Amino acid sequence: MGAIQESGLAMFGKPAAGPQDKWTTERVLSIRWWTPTLATLRTTRYRGFRFTPGHYTRLGLGAADDIVWRPFSLASAAYDDYLEFIAVLVPGGAFSGQLQHLRAGDRIRVDKASYGFLTVDQLAAGRDLWLLASGTGLGPFLSILRDPAVWQNYERLIVAHSVRHSSELAWRDEIAAMPKGELFADAEAALTYLPVVTREPGAAALAERIPLLLADGRLEAAAATPLDVATSRVLVCGNPEMTRELRQALAARGFATNRRGVPGQMAFEKYW
Ligand SMILES: Cc1cc2nc3c(=O)[nH]c(=O)nc-3n(C[C@H](O)[C@H](O)[C@H](O)COP(=O)(O)OP(=O)(O)OC[C@H]3O[C@@H](n4cnc5c(N)ncnc54)[C@H](O)[C@@H]3O)c2cc1C
Ligand SMILES: NC(=O)c1ccc[n+]([C@@H]2O[C@H](COP(=O)([O-])OP(=O)(O)OC[C@H]3O[C@@H](n4cnc5c(N)ncnc54)[C@H](OP(=O)(O)O)[C@@H]3O)[C@@H](O)[C@H]2O)c1
Repeated sequence: MGAIQESGLAMFGKPAAGPQDKWTTERVLSIRWWTPTLATLRTTRYRGFRFTPGHYTRLGLGAADDIVWRPFSLASAAYDDYLEFIAVLVPGGAFSGQLQHLRAGDRIRVDKASYGFLTVDQLAAGRDLWLLASGTGLGPFLSILRDPAVWQNYERLIVAHSVRHSSELAWRDEIAAMPKGELFADAEAALTYLPVVTREPGAAALAERIPLLLADGRLEAAAATPLDVATSRVLVCGNPEMTRELRQALAARGFATNRRGVPGQMAFEKYW
């Protein structure tokens, strides 16, 4: 595939040793703007780039002598020959300021490594996998949902995505169509997709923040299954306040994170 592998050595004529060797320069293949401030983008993929669904890498934008680096979760499948990301424009943010001008064909730096613990291998075996996201926190869950092994290893996949406005329900149609996709059609798991829209009354059946929906039982009612430590495994991603509140609420129900290599029942990633 067409990844452009420029090392820092080629670009700057500096010695091979150094941080520049840790990234490649890729091309933006396409950008989809869901709203004026929310985009998904695809880039070329360095053939040596490896990751586990749920991981993040670092993206770099800007002039060669002033690159702004930020962590971004991988939304593409491990087997795709491109990389996919979702990104929100934050007012005044250094990376956002560069991102808003990005176009197909532009260059973007991608760290050669991937990182993180928001992966299903952090979890003990279970029956139901709950994926609870706010905003762009849905990104890593797309990668996890695109992994056929997940559809074999769980009976239920439950995705709750909380956004302010329904236009921010990125990948909504793609998620809904997944059970019919050829990779998953013969799989064991049933998918339940629960959009949560908090600032547009009437846009979705669920209109409160996820921690509240969990506390009052509406989340489990909407999924038609209990969130139980014996059978449920939970990944949470996005707003740090949401991750903190859900960690507390789940811990109170007996859920634990991976400790010293002992798989747990929940894992978290916060974006700021
Ligand atoms: C492990 C990890 C993975 C991440 N993955 C993603 C991702 O897949 N997509 C993505 O858009 N961002 C992701 N982020 C956040 C991202 O790295 C940047 O912070 C974001 O793009 C804004 O960069 P900035 O320089 O414009 O503003 P920054 O100076 O980095 O952020 C300014 C403020 O904007 C808010 N903010 C930052 N990121 C977000 C966000 N994603 N959603 C809502 N508010 C935010 C926070 O209040 C933050 O303090 C991730 C962060 C971490 C730590
Ligand atoms: N979304 C927009 O319309 C918009 C437009 C321009 C710029 N931005 C900027 O983009 C950034 C991110 O916005 P975002 O909407 O992607 O992320 P966000 O503010 O984290 O909101 C995403 C979802 O998470 C919910 N949420 C917020 N705090 C929570 C908590 N403590 N517990 C549980 N759920 C919580 C929100 O509900 P609530 O609605 O109840 O907060 C919303 O449903 C902000 O800096 C914002 O200024 C956003």
